[in-house]
Amino acid sequence: MLSYRHAFHAGNHADVLKHAIVTHLLDYLTRKDKAFWYIDTHAGAGLYALDEGYATKKSEFETGIGPLWRAWRASTGGRPMPPLLEEYLEQVQQLNPDGNLRHYPGSPWLAWQLLRDQDRLRLFELHSTEIQVLGNNFRGAGRRVMLYDGDGFGGIKAILPPPPRRALVLIDPSYEDKRDYQRTVQCVRDGLERFATGTYAVWYPQVQRRESAQLPAQLKALGAASWLHATLTVKHPVAGGLGLHGSGMFIVNPPYTLRPLLEAALPELVALLGQDDGARFSLEGEQQ
Ligand SMILES: C[S@@+](CC[C@H](N)C(=O)[O-])C[C@H]1O[C@@H](n2cnc3c(N)ncnc32)[C@H](O)[C@@H]1O
Repeated sequence: MLSYRHAFHAGNHADVLKHAIVTHLLDYLTRKDKAFWYIDTHAGAGLYALDEGYATKKSEFETGIGPLWRAWRASTGGRPMPPLLEEYLEQVQQLNPDGNLRHYPGSPWLAWQLLRDQDRLRLFELHSTEIQVLGNNFRGAGRRVMLYDGDGFGGIKAILPPPPRRALVLIDPSYEDKRDYQRTVQCVRDGLERFATGTYAVWYPQVQRRESAQLPAQLKALGAASWLHATLTVKHPVAGGLGLHGSGMFIVNPPYTLRPLLEAALPELVALLGQDDGARFSLEGEQQ
């Protein structure tokens, strides 16, 4: 029984890191005319309200997109942002053209905004309510978008390699089941076997759990020629062991453009979203 609903967390610091990177990965793919697929193994609801419902319960966006958005839009003309964040904020602005932050794009919606006629979206979602909301959000989208009501870890095997041989795969489980860590590693392994040149982006939480600490090393051990690993820690680990103190993104086969963009953006994210003196970032990678 799945209990996780992403709406509670929409726009938090982990979404900011993930979605800023996903925006650039998508933007990079659109620089060539050739079609690509965007595959989301864990799609969520697609689109979130920040001014009503679940997102207002703990208002996690107030320590995520909230401060970033306000700094960008400040009355003085806004804080100049590093290009990676600028690109992402422009996507968020498309949903909030009057400047009031009421709507937040999940990863499927970011992809939808950036997609061209020739590109395709393939979205997996296992939660029975979330898939319905996702379906409502994409009603009328046409045949460019296909939803799969089921398990994304195993499901992508049937659709790789994608016909255009260009794709971004986002693997973004909730990790409420600790077996998700191993399933994530297996999913990237399966993906690389079928489609070695794809870009795979894995999000993971920084929590006080052995599986979370070990995940990056396990992904590096898959032996991909190129990878990049970025983390954004916003505070010291929470006393008592529960809770998210940061998150990481591990990207297999990243474009060469991503690393310099992250070098400029991560210090800004620490400055704007850091909650105590434990706030920091890390960036490591191999490019061939
Ligand atoms: C972190 S949320 C996804 C957020 C989304 N990718 C975004 O960035 O906007 C994880 C989602 O995965 C769903 N989920 C959990 N296990 C799954 C599985 N095995 N296959 C597909 N979806 C799953 C959950 O219901 C939840 O909606």
